[in-house]
Amino acid sequence: MKLITSRVKGINDILPEKVGSWQTVERIAADSAAVYGFKEIRIPTFENTELFVRSVGDTTDVVQKEMFTVMGRESRFTLRPEGTAGVVRAVLENGLLNNSMPQKLYYLINCFRHEKPQAGRLWEFHQFGCEMFGSASPDADAEVISLAKSVIDRLGLRDIELHINSIGCPHCREEYYKALRGFLEPHKEELCDTCKSRFDKNPMRILDCKSDICREISSGAPIMVDYLCDNCRTHFEGLKARLDAMGIEYTIDPKIVRGLDYYTKTVFEFITTSIGAQGTVCGGGRYDGLIEIMGGKATPALGFAMGIERLLLTLKNQGAVLGEERQCDIYIGSMGDAARQRAAVITRSLREEGFWAECDVMERGVKAQMKYADKLDAAFSVIIGDNELENGTAQLKNMKTGETIELPIDDSFTTRFTDIRTADMIAE
Ligand code: HAM
Repeated sequence: MKLITSRVKGINDILPEKVGSWQTVERIAADSAAVYGFKEIRIPTFENTELFVRSVGDTTDVVQKEMFTVMGRESRFTLRPEGTAGVVRAVLENGLLNNSMPQKLYYLINCFRHEKPQAGRLWEFHQFGCEMFGSASPDADAEVISLAKSVIDRLGLRDIELHINSIGCPHCREEYYKALRGFLEPHKEELCDTCKSRFDKNPMRILDCKSDICREISSGAPIMVDYLCDNCRTHFEGLKARLDAMGIEYTIDPKIVRGLDYYTKTVFEFITTSIGAQGTVCGGGRYDGLIEIMGGKATPALGFAMGIERLLLTLKNQGAVLGEERQCDIYIGSMGDAARQRAAVITRSLREEGFWAECDVMERGVKAQMKYADKLDAAFSVIIGDNELENGTAQLKNMKTGETIELPIDDSFTTRFTDIRTADMIAE
């Protein structure tokens, strides 16, 4: 029998010592989104299954193999495998497209995909995602890519390559599908069962299949960029020109088709070789047809999402350290009940001023309290006993230099400590 203290494979705890780096990523992502004019949206963890089937697409791996779906009393619900579908649903349901365009939204969410767990591939993972609605111009593609790049740069990630491609629109895809089917036809029977069923409906999905045999069969297949219509080609050229002008380096990668069905025209990925097989830290693109598919008025849209675990894994493998640990400002030790109470009152007052202050709640002796203060790496300490209570003062000790200074242990303690701690931090 499995221990109830073992977690399910493919999901992780984020322990206190790791939370600092998560918060740094989240802060940099949110700050970068804000300066690009993106506002945060918070969407539900699960939606009607049909939402993902219709938007992500019923021939995708995500829908066919990876969704966590639960049966409610009457309907089926699915834990979000990604954020775009939920954001589009929320945008339509709440009439956000009636506001002035473009609408720019970002989210920091957990997502769920039932994939084979491995480094950088989890059942529950986290995304920072951005979506922009209303612009068909390549200016918007360049802006969105520039935002993704800015987050990657501000995090200090190295050796990340931007790969771009265009997968056209339903109009030019028809010709391409004919060519692709022609190429795959002789090997149709060797394809995996899922891809056999994709052959007629959505042959481009075969290019994204993870099975070795399908990968082998599809290598050398015709590429979509050779079949783009004038409109899609001009759009792609426009994007390239804007990226060139912004000095954002990229590689054109005809192999990128993305694993979700809603994409049109631009698709892109930021890829690293630092974390092994799951090297895509960010993926995105345009989805000009999705709003209409979901019942809204045709509206061009685009976005991206970054996998936070993959960003952190890359940073770790590159030896980067994120997020400074906050230091405990002061430990207030005490001897005896009366002193313990005074220590608790002063600690509370310091905390109200924003200091990380600690006092004893374990009923330990002074020696053990000071050992704990050392463990916390407290910047200052003070010990209150009967003598101190009688005198109304105590010795504040700078734990680094060993210097002491006498302070009143009354209402003025917090103000006096504020001056001393501030001077100490400036000196550091
Ligand atoms: P996606 O490429 O499916 O796109 O996922 C985006 C990112 O999420 C991936 O590049 C990867 O870093 C991370 N990711 C995906 N699956 C896993 C997993 N099982 N474990 C860990 N990380 C994972 C989307 O989700 C689109 N909604 C992006 C988008 C937004 N396109 C337009 N707007």
